Amino acid sequence: MSLLITGASRIETPVGQSAHRGAGMEEIRIIPDGVVRCEGSQIVFVGSRTDHDRAFGAADEELDAAGGAILPGFVDPHTHPVWAGSREDEFNRRLHGESYMDIARSGGGINQTVRATRNAGFEELLDAALERLDTFLLHGTTMIEAKSGYGLDLTTEIRMLEVIRTAHERHPVDLVPTCLAAHEVPPEFRDDPEAYIRTVTEDVYPQIARRGLAEAVDAFCETGVFDIPQTRRLLADAPRYGWGIHLHADELTPLGGAELAVELGALSADHLVHVTDAGIAALAASPTIAILLPGTSFFLRSTYAPGRRMIDAGCAVALATDCNPGSSPTESMPTIVALACLEMGLTIEETLTAATLNAAAALGRADRYGSVEPGKQADLVILNGPSAQHIVYHYGVNPVRHVVKAGRVVVLDGRIREPAERAG
Ligand code: NIG
Ligand code: FE
Repeated sequence: MSLLITGASRIETPVGQSAHRGAGMEEIRIIPDGVVRCEGSQIVFVGSRTDHDRAFGAADEELDAAGGAILPGFVDPHTHPVWAGSREDEFNRRLHGESYMDIARSGGGINQTVRATRNAGFEELLDAALERLDTFLLHGTTMIEAKSGYGLDLTTEIRMLEVIRTAHERHPVDLVPTCLAAHEVPPEFRDDPEAYIRTVTEDVYPQIARRGLAEAVDAFCETGVFDIPQTRRLLADAPRYGWGIHLHADELTPLGGAELAVELGALSADHLVHVTDAGIAALAASPTIAILLPGTSFFLRSTYAPGRRMIDAGCAVALATDCNPGSSPTESMPTIVALACLEMGLTIEETLTAATLNAAAALGRADRYGSVEPGKQADLVILNGPSAQHIVYHYGVNPVRHVVKAGRVVVLDGRIREPAERAG
């Protein structure tokens, strides 16, 4: 099965098999009037129509980009896409002056979603997740990292990770699973957080590892949640299970989460709104990716992570939605890209790198995903505007016309194709 994408104004992509850092994030390859050919799930040719026609015959299927730009599919390296219930009430309370942490301490926040998620069955959680995945896909996202963390007990953490696994099997979007049992101290352990840490490390992690349900682990390292020594203990066994590490770091207070992530050799340190200069220097000198989540700052009406300063210091920055019911209920990477440019001062070129190749690197997958190059998986977005600039310039609407996942056209003219309609 082969697919040829023609009629594009340009192809726009970072290149390479590893993250770009600092000034390197600006380096984008632009191929005017380029075509892309896919064979099976792979990209086999990127270049001019003339060169293509010299080397290849007709393809089984052609897709007309109709003057749009071809980009790599967005990779969203930090999401919480499985939950039940809604927190609209809490959002309104924040508008009336309460803070995210005030609400959490009064029994709302993460623990409110935990109550709803514990009470929901597998099918209910799966249906809700699949609906969100449709929205991710329609906005050009072809791979997400997906965290558990609204169970906070063995049964529900396993159920969430099984939902993630099933959704990965059933939906075109790839889900990369992370165990976030250390998302919060659940109410039944409020008076004894240490006992919860023991439960997580001695019971929950081993059972999840045995079932092969996660490939990474994460913790909410934050004042009033898990402090630095507790986080250290929570993440200590990651190497034994073969898990990579992500860390919710320096989101609400400057606790030193970035430095800890670097020290532990984490794949990523995430949020970083309150990262210190020492934290930025540590990240710049390490392979750990800084995942920034401007949607969360926007939605919590807080300050933004110093993305501009971090890139200027030489960090490798990625962008993510943080899609979750409390602090960032969106699946839209185009919205995140717009916020990164307009509120953090990143350039279009930097955000393109951050939302594709660097995001794939944060999931340990930059060798196969995150750019439009021969040998990479054919995960592509075709915009309805002529360049990546249109993601930000024409803001607030969905800029995605078509999506190709693993060589198949899964979104055509802004509509998800049913499996039977997809070629092959
Ligand atoms: O990444 N910071 C912790 N976790 C989420 C919020 C989850 C929630 O409020 O439900 C975050 O912002
Ligand atoms: Fe998060």
